[in-house]
Amino acid sequence: MTETPPKVVCLGSLNMDLVIAVPRAPAEGETVQGDSIRYVPGGKGANQAVSCARQGADVSMLGRVGPDHHGQVLSEALQQDGIAVHGVLVDPEVATGVAMVMVEASGLNRIVVIAGANGQVCLDEAQLAQELQDAQFLIMQFEVPMPQVLQAARVARSLGCQVVLNPSPAQTLPEALWPLVDVMIVNETEARFLTGLSPDTDPKVAAEVGRQLRSKGVSQAVVTLGALGAVATDAGGSTYHPAPQVKVVDTTAAGDTFLGAVTVALASQRSLSASVDMGIKASTLCVQTMGAQPSIPTLAQTQQNLSVPPWMSL
Ligand code: RIB
Repeated sequence: MTETPPKVVCLGSLNMDLVIAVPRAPAEGETVQGDSIRYVPGGKGANQAVSCARQGADVSMLGRVGPDHHGQVLSEALQQDGIAVHGVLVDPEVATGVAMVMVEASGLNRIVVIAGANGQVCLDEAQLAQELQDAQFLIMQFEVPMPQVLQAARVARSLGCQVVLNPSPAQTLPEALWPLVDVMIVNETEARFLTGLSPDTDPKVAAEVGRQLRSKGVSQAVVTLGALGAVATDAGGSTYHPAPQVKVVDTTAAGDTFLGAVTVALASQRSLSASVDMGIKASTLCVQTMGAQPSIPTLAQTQQNLSVPPWMSL
């Protein structure tokens, strides 16, 4: 007998990423010769949807693109991963979102996003409720308008669907949104913005970030620390999950990949710690390949031959 895959709905952005490889980012007023330019499907929402689908979930995407070639390519890319795109509307008035992603030789990136159609996302509540029927998780980020995020969280919770929020790019949350969030996943920058703490090099500070996010109403909080791994905090306390050390090619979509793997593992009834280990494995594979969606691993790739260091209680 085959298991029914968990159902995940993603409300979020679709961007065409213009990926420019540079030896190093230019300083102010400086011009630097780039190595290459590529057009790669991205957008935090679409990346997270792809990560969930490649981890084995049944995924529906809600978002908006423009009536242009980029929009068509992005929708087709999602369909190739088996993602339902009937909720990705084509806005006749606005161009598809674009992100300029500058990747340095070290693998670190700098991203500028032009929201385009993502900024026009507007939900029909009845249609949203229909999408969320039977879904275990709704995943969202902040590349679509905040009122839509809040409305979707309300509808999801009223239907018993859990809300996973990646508050990225960092913005102040409306007070009403905090208690609607079941799982919040933040990186160091978002942690600093939301709590004023800098967890970058210290898992204990990340645990304090997790406790502060929980005190605002979030049930489970995960702080990602790049090459150092991640810290998970729930009612039972905090655990530190170190990451295996690998050669980094490009960190774009590492956080999105992590979120997808954690979400699908949680939806498959794994513990938060076991789910974060899946996120670490998947994102460790992601950073070893250039580009957003092409670098997101499948479940089989994630499970294959990659062990993670043991996690520890903090
Ligand atoms: O998280 C990575 C993504 O952020 C990129 O794919 C880019 O589109 C921006 O949205």
